Amino acid sequence: MNSTAIAASGLRKAYGDKTILDGIDITVGTGTIFSLLGPNGAGKTTTVNVLTTLLKADGGTARVAGHDLVTETEAVRKAIGVTGQFAAVDDLLTGEENLKLMADLHRLRGKAGKRVVTELLERFDLVESARKPAASYSGGMRRKLDLAMTLVTKPEIVFLDEPTTGLDPRSRRTMWEIVRELTADGVTIFLTTQYLEEADQLADRIAVLDQGRIVAEGTADELKRRVPGSHVQLRFTDATELAAAARILPGATPDDETLALRVPGDGSSKSLRALLDRLAAHSLEADQVSIHTPDLDDVFLALTGHATTEAEPR
Ligand SMILES: Nc1ncnc2c1ncn2[C@@H]1O[C@H](COP(=O)(O)OP(=O)(O)OP(=O)(O)O)[C@@H](O)[C@H]1O
Ligand SMILES: [Mg+2]
Repeated sequence: MNSTAIAASGLRKAYGDKTILDGIDITVGTGTIFSLLGPNGAGKTTTVNVLTTLLKADGGTARVAGHDLVTETEAVRKAIGVTGQFAAVDDLLTGEENLKLMADLHRLRGKAGKRVVTELLERFDLVESARKPAASYSGGMRRKLDLAMTLVTKPEIVFLDEPTTGLDPRSRRTMWEIVRELTADGVTIFLTTQYLEEADQLADRIAVLDQGRIVAEGTADELKRRVPGSHVQLRFTDATELAAAARILPGATPDDETLALRVPGDGSSKSLRALLDRLAAHSLEADQVSIHTPDLDDVFLALTGHATTEAEPR
């Protein structure tokens, strides 16, 4: 068995003199969830398009499901399913008709086709709306239908390009459950997202994409370890107390606007007690104490020098 579902090396893509993918290496283990994380314009969709044979790379090589992207394009296509960033749902058709159309396109006729459609409607909790036009579906339902359509052919590798962008927290959670269930069946997931929490929740491995380059790769925990450590935040009720506390605590950085003091520390109860004791010894008392452990937002900032929301034009 092939234990590597996707292996890409040095993928490059440019439009004119604008480099979009600047040498991308990716390895995804079979049956795992891989997340490509990056802000708008980072090159996520371009990467998906290249790996799904929709777009030809200018350089580099890749094997998907054990097949070469360029010389075995058909075999790659047979093994994969793609749910694009923008839904492929036909609004005029009902949910059921959309799925049937997919089955027909893949020559799943008669009983076999019907069975797949029924199974998917049930699995995605779309039975009640199966006979309603997709135009009447909510964003979450459309996303589910779109993914269901991708699964008609039972692909071994599924590409999901921003599957939860624009969904409310509840629909997002439903989508996460569905993705997890897919891997439980052995499906490999390649997922792009701009939500750090999503990558953190789902992915076995995460690659951070920034302006066409992978700037970091690893498990969520590994990435979190690459940022400056955790800290304790003390909030005071007035500026004099804040200033006094800042003077007696080494390495502390005050924020006069929020009256918060940031103190390096791991938040262990021992260090926390020592911190509060020291304040008390100077007749100072924090109004609120909170412990901040680094999240993936911090990772992005630490690795790229800019926040996830500020995709810079090149
Ligand atoms: N056909 C094209 N011609 C020229 N430039 C393109 C083309 N397709 C994409 N680009 C550019 O490539 C860059 C990466 O685009 P891409 O769609 O891969 O980003 P993305 O990470 O998917 O962003 P988003 O989160 O907004 O979907 C962008 O700057 C985009 O303008
Ligand atoms: Mg995109």
